[in-house]
Amino acid sequence: MPIMHSIYRESGKPTIDADTCSQCGACAKICPAEVLTMDDGNIRVRDDSFFGCIACGHCMMVCPEGAIKVTGRGISPEDLLPLPAPENKAGADALAALMQSRRSVRRFSDREVDAELLERIVEMASTAPMGIPPWDVGCVTVRGREQVQQITAEVVKGYEGFLKIFKPWLLTIMRPFVGRAKYEMFTHFIRPLAEMYVGGHREGRDTVFHGAPALLIFYHSPYADSADAVIPCTYAMLAAESLGLGSTVIGGAPPVLQRNKALCQKLGIPAGSKPSISLILGYPATKFRHAIRRRFVGAGTA
Ligand SMILES: Cc1cc2nc3c(=O)[nH]c(=O)nc-3n(C[C@H](O)[C@H](O)[C@H](O)COP(=O)(O)O)c2cc1C
Repeated sequence: MPIMHSIYRESGKPTIDADTCSQCGACAKICPAEVLTMDDGNIRVRDDSFFGCIACGHCMMVCPEGAIKVTGRGISPEDLLPLPAPENKAGADALAALMQSRRSVRRFSDREVDAELLERIVEMASTAPMGIPPWDVGCVTVRGREQVQQITAEVVKGYEGFLKIFKPWLLTIMRPFVGRAKYEMFTHFIRPLAEMYVGGHREGRDTVFHGAPALLIFYHSPYADSADAVIPCTYAMLAAESLGLGSTVIGGAPPVLQRNKALCQKLGIPAGSKPSISLILGYPATKFRHAIRRRFVGAGTA
């Protein structure tokens, strides 16, 4: 039974070259979908696994003989890359320093961001894990303040519509149906946020994307979860930090962008896919002089 829960309507196809395979079993040991198994000392490619090969490529990546090729679901043996040199890997101290230095940046210098730099960030972000590999997440790059401003205008338009419908009296009527937390979220966060977006725009301020010179919009297919896109967005944020750019995750825009089908089409987001999260980027105009301790609301052991 092939895995159908994806934009790819097929399962992956692992092929083993019997002449070069040493039957070491590394591929069977790592296969998460139980497609490759070891039976009586021989590797077997099963066609009766639960959901077929998910095309994660792990078998190709561990095979010491280069005897496995996986195709299908958008993957190919050409996607195999040499491992980065161990001395280039960030150690825990370097990674922790990067994470602690990163802050949400909402004030940007006039300097534009080169297309190549944004490409590099997107490429780095694409290494993120996804619930069902390999690719049900996409990313649109918007470069240039004017271009970002056009999206701001669309977001503001969407929130103007929201404010017209979700009047305080309607929210009061909705309260018993949606529950306290949702009611309070709409009343005390989403309405004031919408008012800030709309009011700011009227006064010539961009309170949605903060006048950023670049924007990444991550989207997920109907078969994926928004978490699939949020993780690459987080990677992009850290990639940006490592390249001297400031960034901020913008969660306020996607719920409105999702409803703007014409804009999604213009941005090249496939029908059915939804903008999940966005990230503004640019050269910081402010300098943080301290890091800050953050805590989880709860961190227990069980
Ligand atoms: C899921 C998510 C959505 C966010 N949405 C917005 C947003 O719409 N607008 C904004 O200015 N900041 C947004 N932020 C940034 C947070 O407000 C920011 O992380 C917070 O102020 C803490 O700052 P720090 O990132 O420097 O720790 C978002 C962050 C996350 C993780």
